[in-house]
Amino acid sequence: MSDRTPPRLLDLAAISLLRDEALTISTLEYLPTELFPSLFMGAFYGRRMETLKALVQAWPFVCLPLGGLMQKPHRRTLQAVLDGLDVLLAQEVRPRRCRLRVLDLQNTGQNFWRMWSGAKARAGSSSSMAPVTENSSRTEQPLAPLKVFIELHLKKRTLGKFFTYLIRWVEQRKGSAHLCYRKLEIVSMPKENIKEVLSMVQLDCIQEVELNCTCKLSTLGVFAPLLGDMINVQRLRLSHVHASPFAEQEQQQHVVQFTSQILRLHHLRDLCMESPSFLEGRLDQMLRCLVTPLDNLAITNCLLTESDLTHLSQCPNVSQLKKLNLSGVTLTNFSPELLQVLLEKVATTLQELDLDLCRILDPHLEAILPALSRCSQLRSLSICGNFFSVAVMEKLLGHTTGLLSLREELYPVPLESYSSQGVLLLERLVPLQNELLEILRDLGRPRSIWISLRPCPYCGDDKCVHMEPAL
Ligand SMILES: *[C@@H]1O[C@H](CO)[C@@H](O)[C@H](O)[C@H]1NC(C)=O
Ligand SMILES: *[C@@H]1O[C@H](CO)[C@@H](O)[C@H](O)[C@H]1NC(C)=O
Ligand SMILES: *[C@@H]1O[C@H](CO)[C@@H](O)[C@H](O)[C@H]1NC(C)=O
Ligand SMILES: *[C@@H]1O[C@H](CO)[C@@H](O)[C@H](O)[C@H]1NC(C)=O
Repeated sequence: MSDRTPPRLLDLAAISLLRDEALTISTLEYLPTELFPSLFMGAFYGRRMETLKALVQAWPFVCLPLGGLMQKPHRRTLQAVLDGLDVLLAQEVRPRRCRLRVLDLQNTGQNFWRMWSGAKARAGSSSSMAPVTENSSRTEQPLAPLKVFIELHLKKRTLGKFFTYLIRWVEQRKGSAHLCYRKLEIVSMPKENIKEVLSMVQLDCIQEVELNCTCKLSTLGVFAPLLGDMINVQRLRLSHVHASPFAEQEQQQHVVQFTSQILRLHHLRDLCMESPSFLEGRLDQMLRCLVTPLDNLAITNCLLTESDLTHLSQCPNVSQLKKLNLSGVTLTNFSPELLQVLLEKVATTLQELDLDLCRILDPHLEAILPALSRCSQLRSLSICGNFFSVAVMEKLLGHTTGLLSLREELYPVPLESYSSQGVLLLERLVPLQNELLEILRDLGRPRSIWISLRPCPYCGDDKCVHMEPAL
């Protein structure tokens, strides 16, 4: 079969149908299901609002992934679709053809349109795209509430016009339409607004929460009860939640408020906390509340105590981690064995390890080498911004040479490249680099490593020395 296929009959049919809006609308009831996606796309791009409105009322699929077509919010289109939904919701009995239960405004529905627009149609028989997946006795039951899925970014002081319009629409149809957010992102929105917006949401729809507010712990306290109701959250990211240096008791209260809600998150797999200064000395409280094994844990750019790290290495629910990121957590003064215990624990599952800027030294690296060499799933290892001698780096290269999945290796320049004042001396770096290359060659497996002056993996070539032994 050639790649260049002539226009499909379906598309030609859709184009021709769209020429006569009134006729098309009157015949929707009799058109084959396969025509609906093409027709919808045609009406969408041609801004045929009346057709859109009518298509919604006869939509033969459970989901209308409108977000997959809209590059950016388009209010008139949304309005046409909502008008169509209004007609539907006003009816006691669903029209014969219509299966619509979910309006998906997330930017994730492209597959549906791609599949139905032909090119890759053979690829999938995914059930979400099958026309009929429901089997309820539709004609007898009243309509189940319609779900409107959106991705919500609470970034500004106010919501945009598009969302305000949508939220108001849903609000006025309480009981027959629900707003659902799979992903909730809150960036610097006033507390009151957060509460107001979230009060209109089915909290148990939310699977991903990102709270990035550069806020105080008390805001987290306000947010906590809501978090506990988001019982299906799988991914939680908190950035820049700060402890205030005073009011220790109050602080503790907020932490308890927050961690006690973590107890309710039975689907949490992925926990990222960037600069969580409130965690220092309290990590055990958080870990004790985990009820599921995590896949991904990131605690970055903060201070932890040795006791925090001890608790981490003993926590049963981190033993299946695929990704561990402790970048920017200073571990210099901690016993090297702690890191070793932690790594041993996750060795069979770990795929990504980031220990950038942990200021770890030779003894730490030496302590973890045996465990590291058993991380057979490891794909990415980044330990830039630490201080290792070339001798220990040689050991490191030896211990990682058997890790066949390892594709990304980011190391710091050896300690010997610096003067006693901590200035990088290129005339020292170059021979050391050659030495490392020689070691790699002797190890006999072709691989690339990056030697970085900075912790950043993809910093410009001026800062990264990309080593690739030709074997
Ligand atoms: C579908 O409907 C039929 C007949 O009403 C019933 O026997 C069957 O169990 C239903 N299947 C599902 C998956 O609900
Ligand atoms: C958090 O917000 C700050 C600005 O407010 C931004 O620079 C940073 O990239 C955001 N972080 C995340 C993880 O979204
Ligand atoms: C860890 O997860 C298990 C389920 O895998 C759970 O039973 C246990 O209570 C969790 N928490 C701790 C602190 O072990
Ligand atoms: C680890 O966390 C830091 C800081 O949040 C981030 O910049 C880095 O990309 C993360 N590393 C990985 C491997 O995701």
